[in-house]
Amino acid sequence: MRRFRRFYYDLFSRVYDGVIAFHSSDRAGRLRAWLVERAGVEPGMRVLDLCTGTGSVALEARKVVGDSGLVVGVDFSRGMLKKAREKAWGVEGLEWVEACAPFLPFKEGTIHVVICSHAFYELKNWEKLWTLAEVKRVLVPGGRFCMMEHEEPAHPLVRFLYKVRLASMGSWNSERFVAREQLLFSRFFQKVTKERSPTGSSKLLVGVKG
Ligand SMILES: C[S@@+](CC[C@H](N)C(=O)[O-])C[C@H]1O[C@@H](n2cnc3c(N)ncnc32)[C@H](O)[C@@H]1O
Repeated sequence: MRRFRRFYYDLFSRVYDGVIAFHSSDRAGRLRAWLVERAGVEPGMRVLDLCTGTGSVALEARKVVGDSGLVVGVDFSRGMLKKAREKAWGVEGLEWVEACAPFLPFKEGTIHVVICSHAFYELKNWEKLWTLAEVKRVLVPGGRFCMMEHEEPAHPLVRFLYKVRLASMGSWNSERFVAREQLLFSRFFQKVTKERSPTGSSKLLVGVKG
């Protein structure tokens, strides 16, 4: 199944940014800037953008960490990482790593902030749990994990399509996860908070490593 999902994203990478720009009401990327701000990213930090896709959030975080910081974008799709590298051509302080979310190739306690935008729900149940544990492992004490996800669409047809998409990614039990995500986060992180994005279409869960 993971091979299928990687293949899907390798293909999708060719049109991903265009599709997002077409569908999103947030063409100026304000949502990403808001995410980076709410994630508490500051100059000099080491930030991990998990499931980075074409690297848009990583690029936004790079603007904030500056030359003394580092942003690493991780994804399991070579196609997505290729696009990210092209977009970030010439930008220093950005690294792209091909890896799977539940197996992060970083040392314990080395990252200040981990961000995961619109990707966590697609992970299978065991992957979600392992990823939460891995994120906690790589974070410094007091480091933050920020997960942004779509709010469940209100329109019945769009909601149906949203659920079909999650299921087609192999994540049959995402609905159960959504219902108790805050509780699950609390098993790994402290001070767990949840808020709606200014666009109203996404939500942000933040947890702090104790
Ligand atoms: C919907 S895209 C989101 C990309 C980006 N975070 C954004 O907000 O535009 C989901 C991304 O998660 C990646 N992904 C899905 N499952 C993954 C896994 N198990 N490990 C690493 N990356 C994964 C996909 O390759 C894809 O690039």
